[in-house]
Amino acid sequence: MGHMRFFWAVLAMCLLPMMAWAEDRLVRLQAPDALVETGLLKHILPRFSLKSQVRVQIVGVGEAADATLGDTGTPLFFGIGQTWHLAVANPDHLGSKRFSDWMGSKVGQRAIIGFAPDGEALFGPPQEQKVAVVEVDLDGDAVLGQEVSRRACARCHAVEAKGRMGGIGSTPSFAVLRSLNDWEERFSVFYILNPHPSFTLIDEVTPPFPADRPSPIVPIELTLDELEAVLAYVGSMAAADLGGALVHQ
Ligand code: HEC
Repeated sequence: MGHMRFFWAVLAMCLLPMMAWAEDRLVRLQAPDALVETGLLKHILPRFSLKSQVRVQIVGVGEAADATLGDTGTPLFFGIGQTWHLAVANPDHLGSKRFSDWMGSKVGQRAIIGFAPDGEALFGPPQEQKVAVVEVDLDGDAVLGQEVSRRACARCHAVEAKGRMGGIGSTPSFAVLRSLNDWEERFSVFYILNPHPSFTLIDEVTPPFPADRPSPIVPIELTLDELEAVLAYVGSMAAADLGGALVHQ
């Protein structure tokens, strides 16, 4: 008998924190059907959960929720006719906090912009956002980024900070691209910008090539971390002096 009591006590001691843990790591997210039906959440939520170990459960309008995507809160992205905001019920709730941080982070934003069901991005940055003063955030590894650029991009682009040597004829050099105001966005989503989609695979982001349309060249394969590193590298490059160099625009 004493045994059993001990057993239950131990079991309860083990389970209680686990239940608290589970509550901490579950976000009930309310979103209107119109948004759910685009497939965006199905695309981004597994990416979030994988990194954060927080599970997100979508609940309908009117149900109890930890976080809500709609008209109020922090503006996060724009698409299907409106800017979407995230409102969090309890900012101290671990899961909600991780979720809202992630949605606003570069990785989260990239996942949102990278959702392109028919080859075209449906969502972009929120429209209220001011055109950003290029804020270069070296949160990747610029040295790794240089290696990755040499390996994966130098076949076509001149990737070195100095000069426009190398690369293929009219392909813009990284230095020239770097001088564009929106260089950061272009690099973040380069894999959906032509000509790259036909030969580029990003781990956990892009679908495999269609069976009837394999990559015409040795494909480029990158992880998101490597892409982040490329951004850090390009960010660290000085913009090209554009004395007549911007042939490509
Ligand atoms: C097989 C050749 C090839 C490879 C490999 C390649 N690119 Fe490109 N890239 C191009 C061409 C061609 C353009 C110009 C497209 C245009 O102007 O329409 C381009 C344009 C770009 C642009 C500007 C896109 C735009 O529309 O503004 C970015 C950013 C870019 N490339 C990044 C990369 C990165 C990063 C890599 C390596 C991870 C890479 N590219 C690898 C051929 C290539």
